[in-house]
Amino acid sequence: MIEPEIFLNFLKQRRSIRSFQEKKVPDKEINMILEAGQWAPSASNHQPWEFLVIRNKDIIIKLSNLARYGHFIKESSVLIAIVGKIQENPKWYVQDTSLASMNMMLMAWHLNIGTCWIGSLDREKAKELLKIKEGDFLLTILPFGYIKGDIPKKTYRKSLKEIIHEIN
Ligand SMILES: Cc1cc2nc3c(=O)[nH]c(=O)nc-3n(C[C@H](O)[C@H](O)[C@H](O)COP(=O)(O)O)c2cc1C
Repeated sequence: MIEPEIFLNFLKQRRSIRSFQEKKVPDKEINMILEAGQWAPSASNHQPWEFLVIRNKDIIIKLSNLARYGHFIKESSVLIAIVGKIQENPKWYVQDTSLASMNMMLMAWHLNIGTCWIGSLDREKAKELLKIKEGDFLLTILPFGYIKGDIPKKTYRKSLKEIIHEIN
């Protein structure tokens, strides 16, 4: 087991990374990231997800043009698209796939690999490009790569005082 303070610091030190080195992330690391996603919890353990591993540079560039605030994903050599299988859990697929994504992001950080959740995406066009079925949901596309330059500074968080309310 990891010491609690070390684990908390690990969570606090994670940053969204938006600049990547050209150096490729080895398959072993990508597989560990995928496995971290596989082991996320899901409602009734339905696991309503698929993970698309995208290494084709042409597709990566096309996707970067569909991400309004994510053009930087073109610097990455591998993307993972998180797809929610709506029919496999119509009520909880967003939560389930989000948890899988977070697991992947944390696994990546532990491997010194940067990533960033890409939310601003032309989903319809991206789904078409990735041949994702009409009835499936494209949650996000996560770029992965070794961090280029300095790790971004600490990001702002509301204070615990602002967000915690004791219910007696
Ligand atoms: C649902 C969601 C959507 C996001 N979309 C984008 C995005 O499109 N582009 C981007 O650069 N960052 C995006 N982010 C990253 C956030 O900007 C980032 O997590 C936040 O500013 C806090 O920074 P940190 O992750 O470094 O702590 C997104 C994060 C989440 C959770």
